[in-house]
Amino acid sequence: MAVKQGSLVCVGPGMVLGAHMSERCRNHISQADVVFSSCHPVIEQWISTMNPDVRSLQGLYGKDKDRGQTYTEMQAALMQAVRDGCRVVGVFYGHPGVFAQVPHASIKQAREEGFEAWMEPGISADACLYADMGIDPGAYGYQSFETSQFMFYERVIDPTAYLILWQLGHAGDLSMTPRQTGPKELTVLMNMLLEHYAPNHKIAIYESPFLPTQQPKTAWFSLQELPQAEVSLISTLVIPPGNKLTPNHAIVKQLKSISGA
Ligand SMILES: C[S@@+](CC[C@H](N)C(=O)[O-])C[C@H]1O[C@@H](n2cnc3c(N)ncnc32)[C@H](O)[C@@H]1O
Repeated sequence: MAVKQGSLVCVGPGMVLGAHMSERCRNHISQADVVFSSCHPVIEQWISTMNPDVRSLQGLYGKDKDRGQTYTEMQAALMQAVRDGCRVVGVFYGHPGVFAQVPHASIKQAREEGFEAWMEPGISADACLYADMGIDPGAYGYQSFETSQFMFYERVIDPTAYLILWQLGHAGDLSMTPRQTGPKELTVLMNMLLEHYAPNHKIAIYESPFLPTQQPKTAWFSLQELPQAEVSLISTLVIPPGNKLTPNHAIVKQLKSISGA
């Protein structure tokens, strides 16, 4: 199929205003025919200084509106501009491909329709978390889940690794609206985690700032205090390993016989 005239690139400005945006991301924004944005309002104001046609997608969210419907409408807005022959840029905060359905789905659709479409990486919330909390994900390994998906499906937890739960503010939300859930859903989550970790196991809620003048927030508390924790829609839950790594003697023995060590 011949590549058609419209194009789509999804970019991420990172988390902190004015601090994380790559040159490539900035160039795509300034050279676009139209820019669609789903970011913090302050970041959207900043992006508006880079291109005369920046359209916020945030207005598509509605109090009791299904988030899936909002994502469909966001994708439709991007795709209509691509079909109109525009160089379209979608700006999604952090990294556009991390816990973000619309950029992945839109790029897939654009390619299926014969348009050029790709993604540029950005600095995500977990990238900030590793830096601010001093966590090396390679030290013990880590598992990363969307909290509600983690609750709705049977997942296998490895308590010797870090466990990172995203979208804690929507924990256990069956309505799929933008509403924030509360202590009752967090109690269900706590009980799930108590099957793997001690009640006094220390866990943390991490929130990266959006402004360079703000400090990162890391609130530590015991697992048994999770239902009362102060949670917002930008909260990420960090659960450090609860168990020590168990050596795999049989495999090490096999490897020794290969290397002769
Ligand atoms: C829809 S995802 C978007 C993630 C984003 N694309 C990224 O690259 O980080 C939203 C979730 O990301 C995490 N998140 C977003 N903003 C954050 C922040 N400022 N600090 C910590 N975590 C954040 C939270 O878990 C939040 O519920």
